[in-house]
Amino acid sequence: MYRSHTCGALRAENIGEEIMLAGWVQRSRNMGGMTFVDLRDRYGITQLSFNVEKDENLCEAARKLGREFVIQVTGKVIERESKNKNLTTGEIEIEVQKLEVLNAAQTPPFTIEDDTDGGEELRMKYRYLDLRRNPLRKNLELRHKLGFETRKYLSDSGFLEIETPYLIKSTPEGARDFVVPSRMHPGEFYALPQSPQTFKQILMIGGYDRYFQIVRCFRDEDLRADRQPEFTQIDCEMAFVEQEDVLQMFEGLVRHLFSEVKGVALPEFDRMTYAEAMKLYGSDKPDVRFGMQFVELNELTKGKGFGVFDSAELVVGICAKGAASYSRKQLDKLTEFVRKPQIGATGLIYGRVDDEGGVKSSVDKFFDESDRKKWAEAFDAESGDLLLILAGDAIKVRKQLNELRLEMGNQLELRDPSKFAPLWVVDFPLLEWDEDGKRFHAMHHPFTSPKAEHMSLLDTDPGKVNANAYDMVVNGVELGGGSIRIHDQALQAKMFEVLGFTKEEAEKQFGFLMGAFKYGAPPHGGVAFGFDRLAAMFGGTDSIRDYIAFPKNNAGKDLMIDSPSTIAHEQLKELGLAVKKE
Ligand code: AMO
Repeated sequence: MYRSHTCGALRAENIGEEIMLAGWVQRSRNMGGMTFVDLRDRYGITQLSFNVEKDENLCEAARKLGREFVIQVTGKVIERESKNKNLTTGEIEIEVQKLEVLNAAQTPPFTIEDDTDGGEELRMKYRYLDLRRNPLRKNLELRHKLGFETRKYLSDSGFLEIETPYLIKSTPEGARDFVVPSRMHPGEFYALPQSPQTFKQILMIGGYDRYFQIVRCFRDEDLRADRQPEFTQIDCEMAFVEQEDVLQMFEGLVRHLFSEVKGVALPEFDRMTYAEAMKLYGSDKPDVRFGMQFVELNELTKGKGFGVFDSAELVVGICAKGAASYSRKQLDKLTEFVRKPQIGATGLIYGRVDDEGGVKSSVDKFFDESDRKKWAEAFDAESGDLLLILAGDAIKVRKQLNELRLEMGNQLELRDPSKFAPLWVVDFPLLEWDEDGKRFHAMHHPFTSPKAEHMSLLDTDPGKVNANAYDMVVNGVELGGGSIRIHDQALQAKMFEVLGFTKEEAEKQFGFLMGAFKYGAPPHGGVAFGFDRLAAMFGGTDSIRDYIAFPKNNAGKDLMIDSPSTIAHEQLKELGLAVKKE
């Protein structure tokens, strides 16, 4: 036996007991006659005490312990003289009778403390040391709890967890595939799944009408705080359902997770159409913790001689409550913000609403007092508010104003991390036009069904067709998305045609699915949640990396195992990938 208790277990009730603990040395303090060692494991910290007068050799051995040594001690639980209220074990300490070093340790390259001195790169390289820190431990515990409660809810609702393969053929979800060369079939490749999409649909055809899987997905795309090349989905599918059934079931899941894991009772989820979201927030994932909705000003601004507005397709703005006190410098900073290349606006027009409901703007010479008063009315603005207006190409300007709205939300502290505003965004367009490729792409994926009432538009005006597709958005984060699928072979073939696949290409890539559709495919639909994003949201951050035990860095590298890396020429040869030497 290595231990009778963990380092987080002992309390005042245990005083007098003989116990055995094992763990890592957090730190040791030498106080003349006494040496104290903080012993740590994932459950907590317990103070060990060594008294020179009682056992000089033992005390000497304790003094030699370095940080992160792995030790085992036997001793007696005694009351602590100076209690530590910050520790759950703070009322007691262990009077050590026997000490054994199980393994010595080199001095770690950064401190294993909540606030560490280690930079990101260093911590990634020594991930096993970083994992010993409380913040990461808490994150992984949270992730475990979320997974556990997800399984509980879905299993209780009749879902079966079924595994699908990782070595598959490409599924088009919009990103590039990671591919794996086949040794047995030189020149042929498996693809790692971007999601189990086609397999879960096949499971529906197989009769497993409620499926889920907490599953790894792989996408070779540019990385961001909320994107990893391999990430985890809670992937779900149901047969014999309509959109409403799916929304109800998974609103239930998310509500269950919030109440069980976070103790938060979520309100009923709002619903917003994609069109509304774009018009009012310029984003398909609006953060609705705060208002500041877009107000379109074309009618009030055009034809007054201000070229920027006159030549714009759209003049649109937001009203920042109480921000009229922004200084010139602050406004210049905002202008700089919208002009950043990533945002790309040409400039920012602002107006401060005064006590009489008038507006003092940066373009007063083009608009008289009554014109500007009408702006304030359009925004429903009050004295002390700040109007921020952008103009330009409608699609671009909405995106730019979305960024500005979020920035103002941050600056005015309207994005309260303890508040949760969940939302279903529904009625997504089926297709999106790719100007470069001069073709349509599926906005969600090619298996998403068009709205029944838009079916006839597929031939005449495909860009206008809406889909039975939905996203779950919480606080501006897309937590999940899904759709009701096509289950009719002819319609699926039509969809591939609209997407520009030839019959042969569609057959080669998706023949298996279209074939399956011929053997009794039930109506079905589903959703997938970003599990890492869910964990990060519950933990109160945007960055998913800290909720993954072994993540990749921003360049897609695992610094600990040094991957990706080259492989031996022999291995390449075996795979049929060796480049012939000249
Ligand atoms: P989608 O592509 O929308 O849908 O993905 C579902 C959810 O997965 C999360 N996500 C990611 N998380 C971390 N890193 C990434 N690179 C990443 N990419 C996506 C997001 C997203 O909402 N098969 C469909 C689902 C369906 O139709 O049922 C799919 O994969 O939170």
